[in-house]
Amino acid sequence: MAIVFQTQRFIIRHLEHTDRDGMFRLDSDPDVHTYLGNKPVQSMEEVDAVIQNIQSQYVRNGVGRLAITDKTSNDFLGWTGLKKLEEPYNNQVNVHDLGYRLIKTCWGKGVATETAMGTLNYGFNQLQLEKITAMADCENVGSNNVLTKVGMQFVETFMLDNTLHNWYELTRKAYFLENVAQ
Ligand SMILES: CC(C)(COP(=O)(O)OP(=O)(O)OC[C@H]1O[C@@H](n2cnc3c(N)ncnc32)[C@H](O)[C@@H]1OP(=O)(O)O)[C@@H](O)C(=O)NCCC(=O)NCCS
Repeated sequence: MAIVFQTQRFIIRHLEHTDRDGMFRLDSDPDVHTYLGNKPVQSMEEVDAVIQNIQSQYVRNGVGRLAITDKTSNDFLGWTGLKKLEEPYNNQVNVHDLGYRLIKTCWGKGVATETAMGTLNYGFNQLQLEKITAMADCENVGSNNVLTKVGMQFVETFMLDNTLHNWYELTRKAYFLENVAQ
């Protein structure tokens, strides 16, 4: 098991083939996909392809979305982490995007906030990144709340898949200023 980092309540590790049941539960739920601009998966083969795609990013880019598991129960809760944007979004490419997606029964317990804070810490302290970006559908109140709460700074809105999205950035300098100030 390749653990990447830990937070108070969670282990953050590479996604594995054995996460396929949890990933199916996550990605087959229409409620999870409300603001994601893509369709829920319908088969285990689709989930296997998603996991393989993420694993190929670990090799190619050194980063990719990571599994969140509960330290006490060992349950798979969803994913968090950084994705290197290999295609342009909001005219930016090769930047590191903070993202997360959780199984519905885990919503409203601070999981996204705690693991996103861990991801920023990992990105700036371990990977020594200069900038982390993020995006969310303007109507995705939960995700916009998480991004604001962890200190991501709103930059502008942009269109993605015919839907207005918010674009956020956090520079290394601003991250350390925010964290020293606390
Ligand atoms: C968005 C998502 C990650 C939020 O995860 P979560 O673990 O429930 O978020 P947190 O518990 O850390 O909540 C952070 C803050 O946002 C608020 N919040 C979370 N979901 C909310 C919602 N749907 N509506 C309003 N506020 C919400 C919380 O109350 C909390 O604020 P507070 O500390 O002031 O009370 C989760 O709902 C999810 O996985 N959704 C589906 C996938 C998705 O949309 N991913 C993001 C794509 S950009």
